[in-house]
Amino acid sequence: MNYWTVIPAAGQGKRMNAGISKQWIELLGKPVLAHTLHVFENDPHCEGVILVGSEKELKQMQDFVESFQYKKVRKIVPGGKERQQSVYEGLKVVPIDTDFVLIHDAARPFITQDSISQLVNTARETGSAVLAVPVKDTVKRVVENQVEETIDRSSLWAVQTPQAFRLSIVMEAHGKADEEGFVGTDDASLVERIGQTVAIVMGDYHNIKLTTSDDLLFGQAILLERQGEKA
Ligand code: CTP
Ligand code: MG
Repeated sequence: MNYWTVIPAAGQGKRMNAGISKQWIELLGKPVLAHTLHVFENDPHCEGVILVGSEKELKQMQDFVESFQYKKVRKIVPGGKERQQSVYEGLKVVPIDTDFVLIHDAARPFITQDSISQLVNTARETGSAVLAVPVKDTVKRVVENQVEETIDRSSLWAVQTPQAFRLSIVMEAHGKADEEGFVGTDDASLVERIGQTVAIVMGDYHNIKLTTSDDLLFGQAILLERQGEKA
């Protein structure tokens, strides 16, 4: 089933503290954004990509898309202060007759076509689906350095992107959150708020988000392993 993708890339990468935003950091000689876009560029089911960049980086993003000659990137739009606003700006320019849209962080460059296709197949049945992996650590709720509660791990999943939605559902969810000033930590939480069911699809522990500098080390290891598999 065909889909469009919105890629928020308008953050500042404060926790990475690299002096540049995360999508420009090079991993094995290619910017993070190139690794991320490669997957969608090569997926025949992806009809188009909307890139969301910060106002001051729009020109740089345009030049980057031209130099790598991406054919799927249909529009580059300015984002907002919060990730949620950036995503909403991207969603607004997805063609109105689109059935399904994926939202995927630029900072998750290790997504695979296999995971995307499982996600999209589930979303087609349920309307909304997210990739997630079971939490490996024991998670405790802590207040002022004291444990309040140990949460039952068997029901905890760490949610990733992409997240896939019927366009009409996610537009309604973002519109309502925007009107009401609600800010969620992912797009699915906005969809849950309007009473829609969100299905979980088993993701991949390699689909990490590059957040702090340690993640660059893990990221390089993931890429090297993949290179070895191809050789
Ligand atoms: N993002 C965005 N617009 C924002 C904030 C974030 O498009 N206002 C994007 C980021 O570019 C990233 C994704 O959302 O691809 C996930 O956000 P996160 O990992 O938090 O990235 P940053 O916000 O850039 O990092 P930090 O929070 O450390 O500053
Ligand atoms: Mg952020």
